[in-house]
Amino acid sequence: MTRQQDGGKCRVVVLISGSGTNLQALIDAAARDDASFSVCSVISNKPGAYGLARAGDAGIAAVAIDHRDYGDRETFDRALMEEIDCHRPDLVVLAGFMRILTPEFVRHYSGRLLNIHPSLLPKYQGLNTHARALEAGDPEHGVTVHFVTEELDGGPTIVQAAIPVKDDDTPDTLARRIQVQEHVIYPLAVSWFAEGRLRMVEDRCQLDGEFLPRSGHRIEN
Ligand code: GRF
Repeated sequence: MTRQQDGGKCRVVVLISGSGTNLQALIDAAARDDASFSVCSVISNKPGAYGLARAGDAGIAAVAIDHRDYGDRETFDRALMEEIDCHRPDLVVLAGFMRILTPEFVRHYSGRLLNIHPSLLPKYQGLNTHARALEAGDPEHGVTVHFVTEELDGGPTIVQAAIPVKDDDTPDTLARRIQVQEHVIYPLAVSWFAEGRLRMVEDRCQLDGEFLPRSGHRIEN
């Protein structure tokens, strides 16, 4: 199916590896009457990922492509691309997809590939972001939605939500408060893209024809 055949809605494929709470937020946003996008497929690299059940419950095509069945990253990514492209997506969304992607994959979806990362990028690329923010004594922490480029957690930032760090915060309490923000900013960024308001222009983001600051649109809490 193409976008035209899908009622003009932006077709989104979501890649997951785990529980899929961000996927759920996107499914819920897509179910609204005025939604500008539809989630047309969910793919997990982990067969047991709970997000696959969420997709099933919503009547969305869901499939696992187990990376352990492939000899190397390139072969796995090619199988993934083949499955994604069957759905003719306008946008590919990484929602807790815990795999490093090959340059070939990233180039193939350039300008239509988004990720969410639980830190105020460029701070804390990679893992254990909450513990690292606490160790550094940061007064604030947050989450970033960005376009994906070949640099890991390094593409142009679209939107960030910041929260204050409290004295008694732990990695778990921070993760919980940040997830609440994730479920707000990911549907927001996907809607902007779906409505044709958001574009990646070289290494910058444009929203409504204006370049965003390097730190993206910022939401304070
Ligand atoms: C989120 O914290 C996201 O920022 C990170 O992976 C986690 C996915 O959570 N990239 P979920 O599977 O959407 O619940």
